[in-house]
Amino acid sequence: MMDAILGTFHYISEAVGIQWAPLNVPMSRRLQTLAATAWICLVLFGEAAAILLFIQLIYSQFWWLTLLYGIWMLNDLDVCHRGGRKIEWVRNWSWWNYYRDYFPIKLVKKQDLDPSRNYLFACFPHGVVCSGAFGAFATNALNFYKVFPGMTCNMITLGGHFRVPFFRDLVLALGSCASSQESLLHLLDKRKHTGKCVVLFVGGAAEALDSHPGEYKVILSRRKGFIRVAMKSG
Ligand SMILES: *[C@@H]1O[C@H](CO)[C@@H](O)[C@H](O)[C@H]1NC(C)=O
Repeated sequence: MMDAILGTFHYISEAVGIQWAPLNVPMSRRLQTLAATAWICLVLFGEAAAILLFIQLIYSQFWWLTLLYGIWMLNDLDVCHRGGRKIEWVRNWSWWNYYRDYFPIKLVKKQDLDPSRNYLFACFPHGVVCSGAFGAFATNALNFYKVFPGMTCNMITLGGHFRVPFFRDLVLALGSCASSQESLLHLLDKRKHTGKCVVLFVGGAAEALDSHPGEYKVILSRRKGFIRVAMKSG
């Protein structure tokens, strides 16, 4: 009986093209898969979920706390143009280590960087969700600080992410800042700080929508503002 059920299950799975993982996959690998799955859910649904949560809370007994948070957030909108609010503890979460090992992601140094200067990294390709750069620059899983002693990094992302309640706090904690000229010039300002790597995806969302397996496309037309920023900031 059991055999028949399993056989049918197997048959249906094959017919719809599902391949199940073998039962003996080690726990560490399962955690890696879970970490990567949770991350992609965060990227795809995190903002919608955060907005729904905010609305739910407004209609709950905690409405006054939520309202206070909302007022604070409106006063705080500018922070993404002024260096952000990185929290190393969040970048240290072991979620990111499992996430790194899922792919796995590697950070390869080709050249030393000078901590008395700031750098603008023009990162490509964006890919659909830039999972590699996220691991390297928005978390400590790739040991960026050890690979490049004296340097810190900030990943640049769309300003819209910093307007979503709760979600913005995570994005800020990971060290992200908005992709405005004001934000980039602030981060790269040598009078304010040195030893910063500012990681910008030159192709942006346009490139994300045009990525395909096995192809590296870089979209540069109408996207030369980063050169102006690099020249302005020296
Ligand atoms: C984060 O991890 C690094 C080691 O990778 C450690 O030096 C640092 O103290 C940690 N920071 C926090 C706030 O946990």
